[in-house]
Amino acid sequence: MDDTGFQRGQALLRRHLTDSPPSTFSLLGRDWDLLDGVFSPAQTPVTALFSTWLPYPAGGAFLEVGSGTGVTAVTAALSGCRAVTALDVSTAAVANTRLNVARHGVEDRVRVLHSDLFSALDPAEEFDLIYWNSNFAEAPDDFVNETDLHHAFFDPSYRTHRQFVEQAPAHLARGGRVMLGFSTIGNFALLKRFCAHAGLEPVVVRSESRQVDPATTLEFQLLELR
Ligand SMILES: C[S@@+](CC[C@H](N)C(=O)[O-])C[C@H]1O[C@@H](n2cnc3c(N)ncnc32)[C@H](O)[C@@H]1O
Repeated sequence: MDDTGFQRGQALLRRHLTDSPPSTFSLLGRDWDLLDGVFSPAQTPVTALFSTWLPYPAGGAFLEVGSGTGVTAVTAALSGCRAVTALDVSTAAVANTRLNVARHGVEDRVRVLHSDLFSALDPAEEFDLIYWNSNFAEAPDDFVNETDLHHAFFDPSYRTHRQFVEQAPAHLARGGRVMLGFSTIGNFALLKRFCAHAGLEPVVVRSESRQVDPATTLEFQLLELR
């Protein structure tokens, strides 16, 4: 396990808990609601970077796993996707995504589901792009995500990453793509092993280094599982 990734994930979680984020924030030229216990896009650069970089399928179907506040799902709907499905295992995140979908008037094309990965989907549902800005800090096997917010940062033994890699391809439309928002604190070697088992290869399609606190610079990476 990558101790550095786990420790950095803990530092990010502590910052979320101690900084008491505001109940609204501005990002990508729009205003957003933020509920307690939901991953705050105002406190790390990831949401803005990935939401800007994603190749939203114009006129197509987009699935966001782990939608959090819903910034990316709403951006997808406003960028020309015909149908957006946003899901999250956190009930607070589901409520938060619904709030921002309503705030931006895209209820007609965004469906929000409470779901552990793909479990709430019809097995036959297909998407042109499946995306997850993942909880890329690998936690020890016996670590328990005791709150909704923990799920935003930690994946014990990368069990959820393994399931994502195994299950996402079954929901792809012809020519569809699977992408992961990742970073250098994630366990890329383990992800690569899961991908190899599934006949896939993780490829960095875009990356950028950003200082996240005075002592830490991280590289954020948009991966495609090809
Ligand atoms: C790093 S946060 C990203 C949130 C949002 N997409 C963003 O970019 O601001 C990861 C999200 O994945 C969700 N998540 C973690 N495990 C999940 C699972 N098994 N099924 C669905 N969502 C999950 C978390 O609750 C969290 O909202």
